[in-house]
Amino acid sequence: MAVRVAVNGFGTIGKRVAAAVVKQPDMTLVGVAKTRPSFEAREALQSGYRLYVTGAGDPAEFEKVGLRTAGRIEELLQDVDVVVDAAPDRVGQENARLYQKAGVRAVFQGGEKSEVAEVSFNALANYAAAKDHRTVRVVSCNTTGLARAAAILTTRWEVDHWEATIVRRAADPAETKRGPLNGIIPTLQIPSHHGHDVNTILPNLHITTTAVVVPTTLMHVHVNNVRFRTGPKSAAELVEALRRTPRFHVFSRWEGIQGTPQVMEFARDRGLGRSDMMENVLWEEGVRVDGRTATFFQAIHQESVVIPEVIDAIRAMFDLAPDAARSIAITDRALGLSGPG
Ligand SMILES: NC(=O)c1ccc[n+]([C@@H]2O[C@H](COP(=O)([O-])OP(=O)(O)OC[C@H]3O[C@@H](n4cnc5c(N)ncnc54)[C@H](OP(=O)(O)O)[C@@H]3O)[C@@H](O)[C@H]2O)c1
Repeated sequence: MAVRVAVNGFGTIGKRVAAAVVKQPDMTLVGVAKTRPSFEAREALQSGYRLYVTGAGDPAEFEKVGLRTAGRIEELLQDVDVVVDAAPDRVGQENARLYQKAGVRAVFQGGEKSEVAEVSFNALANYAAAKDHRTVRVVSCNTTGLARAAAILTTRWEVDHWEATIVRRAADPAETKRGPLNGIIPTLQIPSHHGHDVNTILPNLHITTTAVVVPTTLMHVHVNNVRFRTGPKSAAELVEALRRTPRFHVFSRWEGIQGTPQVMEFARDRGLGRSDMMENVLWEEGVRVDGRTATFFQAIHQESVVIPEVIDAIRAMFDLAPDAARSIAITDRALGLSGPG
């Protein structure tokens, strides 16, 4: 029987998770929840989702503008096996009490501290760790990108030390209150929290991260320097390993993808919806191996990269697939991701 899923919070992540759940053969979306009426609340109803009121929201406010609601979040939780919390940063930890009271399992997002859940998750890195757990946290977009790459490199070779500089987007495209609009802001916490977050999934990886915020909304870019004890013999070998892995998309120079604007144009043309690019994006010519050190760039579409991970987290919690490879294959086929090759 399909796992019944609720999505609490219907913003950037929540609406994508809802759309992804609907496409899965072994999951059913029971409803989504928002605090207030908006175009997104209308979009939920137009998509055929049942809409519930969450947080401090008032059902009367929805009714006033003609949006029909099916009840409050507490009622939605009565009808599901798992809730995906997609509320703003740190609100998930408040919602956790609600989920516990209702006796439902919960998947949290990377804006929460790792303590919110029993385990932090990335499908390529630690799929089995989520098995049978009641609470799982899918790590943030940047951590997801790093963990995916680290999972591949640490499986094939022996990594001595990983150093990553994270060039962070300032805001999501729909956000108007964040910046900078003009400037480059170094994160004055060295190392940045991302490396520590990767260690919630890959505890033995020696990784240090630093971050700067730049005025763009499209994607993050990571500049990775990896020192190996035993590593790939050439850039071609490393590229080949990544190309063979799901959730990696490697562009070649002839394709004319100079940077994140063309990646987004590619995603719009590909047409998976919302111009999403759920894979780690690399450039073949942006990978170099020098002796025992590899350097490579990767771009991460912050709005969508975690979506397939949330789906796999649910599958792992309910033991719906024998292993990561099978779950990833089911998820990616349903989402229309082309897979390795
Ligand atoms: N955006 C990204 O780049 C990104 C990437 C990876 C992970 N994440 C993480 O995903 C989570 C959600 O981020 P987001 O970008 O999707 O935020 P968002 O776009 O601001 O959406 C948050 C949603 O939560 C709703 N909400 C507000 N208060 C709530 C409550 N008490 N209970 C339940 N829902 C509530 C909001 O509804 P109303 O509009 O009705 O108030 C809105 O629909 C965060 O932990 C974030 O760190 C975000």
